Amino acid sequence: MSIIKWREAFSTGIDSFDEDHKKIVNLIADLFEGLRDKKNKVDLDRIVKECMVYVDSHLAAEEKAMQEHGYDQLDEHKVEHDGFRKHIEELQGRLSGDSEGLAQELYNYLREWFSKHIMDIDMKYGPFFKEKGL
Ligand SMILES: [Fe+2]
Ligand SMILES: [Fe+2]
Repeated sequence: MSIIKWREAFSTGIDSFDEDHKKIVNLIADLFEGLRDKKNKVDLDRIVKECMVYVDSHLAAEEKAMQEHGYDQLDEHKVEHDGFRKHIEELQGRLSGDSEGLAQELYNYLREWFSKHIMDIDMKYGPFFKEKGL
């Protein structure tokens, strides 16, 4: 297991979403550090919660912007977000009460999912939103 770090290749060219992605990458890294440093249940729960709240609002912000500007790949993009939400919900249900197990699984999943989602899916809206002046 290694830590996730922001890299230039993650940049979509849309500042507000890049800032969100940076913040999310940092929160995922906090999760990694919390696990590595064997933080207690209260701290791990707090880190997980902070991360989830931020991620939720980011996905909603992307969807709102895509909707508002008539992005033609909104449906495909939303399928990806919904798949993510569903998986997170299952994980939280399955591992309720087990802070360390949950933080560990979340870390693995978030790290994979976000890297891939930003590079393969979010990246596609860059030119579109740029043209819309975002
Ligand atoms: Fe997205
Ligand atoms: Fe995103």
